[in-house]
Amino acid sequence: MKKKLIILGIETSCDDTAVSIIRNTKVLSNIILHQKIHKKYGGVVPELAARYHDKNIYFAVNKAIVVSKINKYQIDAVSFTLGPGLIGSLLIGASFAKSFSIGLKIPLISVNHIRAHILTHFINDANINNKIPKFPFLCLMISGGHTQIILVDDFFKMKILGSTLDNPVGETLDKIARIFGFSYPGGPILDFFSKNGNSQKFIFSKPLVNGLNFSFSGFKSQVIQFIKNETKKDSFFIKKNLSDLCASVQKIIAEILLEKIKKATLKTKIFRIVLAGGVSANNEIRRLFLLQKKKNKKWEIFLLKKKYTTDNGAMIAIAGLLKYKQHLFSTIDVTSYSKFKKF
Ligand code: KG4
Ligand code: ZN
Repeated sequence: MKKKLIILGIETSCDDTAVSIIRNTKVLSNIILHQKIHKKYGGVVPELAARYHDKNIYFAVNKAIVVSKINKYQIDAVSFTLGPGLIGSLLIGASFAKSFSIGLKIPLISVNHIRAHILTHFINDANINNKIPKFPFLCLMISGGHTQIILVDDFFKMKILGSTLDNPVGETLDKIARIFGFSYPGGPILDFFSKNGNSQKFIFSKPLVNGLNFSFSGFKSQVIQFIKNETKKDSFFIKKNLSDLCASVQKIIAEILLEKIKKATLKTKIFRIVLAGGVSANNEIRRLFLLQKKKNKKWEIFLLKKKYTTDNGAMIAIAGLLKYKQHLFSTIDVTSYSKFKKF
């Protein structure tokens, strides 16, 4: 029998220090140290994020090893996020991974953060129904930093069909949530307050963007301006309408995403849809996509358990495992990058 590979995955592209160890596709540990410091600033402060990664990384790796009930000499390779992300944060993860690889004489594997979000679907048990998507599929990648429709032909053959032209969807939700008085990240809080809201109460117009691209900046300004105007007339406007406002915003966002994916299915004739990234935890988006699957039997929808939607170390470890199997190793001079270049 082939030896099972043990991979350590390190994710430090934004504000969470996330470390995981997997044995083949099974997760042994998945440690996430959230940096609460950013809450009071209403968004991630890059310099603080890097400092806290530096403070947390050793503890997170050590904890992952202990929880996994292995010793560090059993680890076959170390994978880490090379980019995109905040450069200071990325460099902490990269330096740690490089030192770990040199110290233990094990391969170093660099991973693209977006690819890793998508490959999370190949972790044992990550899918809500325990299903793994077959190739090819369309991935709707929706997170705080990214909004893309990606054609996935293989683990390493991915093509971006559409992207946001301005703000990512998660950032848009977080900025709107801030106006409602929610702390960062406001997306999940907005989701929570939407539960009992009337999503028909406030109608916002949708952006008109050709093809498979998205735009959220006009939508964001429209909502923020509307709230400012109403608050001038009645200072309790938000308080009185909070759930309805949250539900109305969420509904439009979910519809925009679904409409674009519908377009992508017609263009590609691929009806296997995979959702990835933090915003795919959103209940209204999930509900609307599952409803579409009921309406059109050709559709298949793949959703992750919520803990695997947001940034985590297991997604970096699984991407590392898949690269290991193809001997796609990195050298020590591999350079971190903040902006998405290509897969
Ligand atoms: O994937 P992720 O952890 O980080 C990036 O790679 O950007 O995504 C974080 C984003 C944040 O904008 C957060 O507000 C959003 O995911 N998010 C949600 C929900 N859970 C997380 N947005 C809406 N509804 C949720 N339930
Ligand atoms: Zn992410």
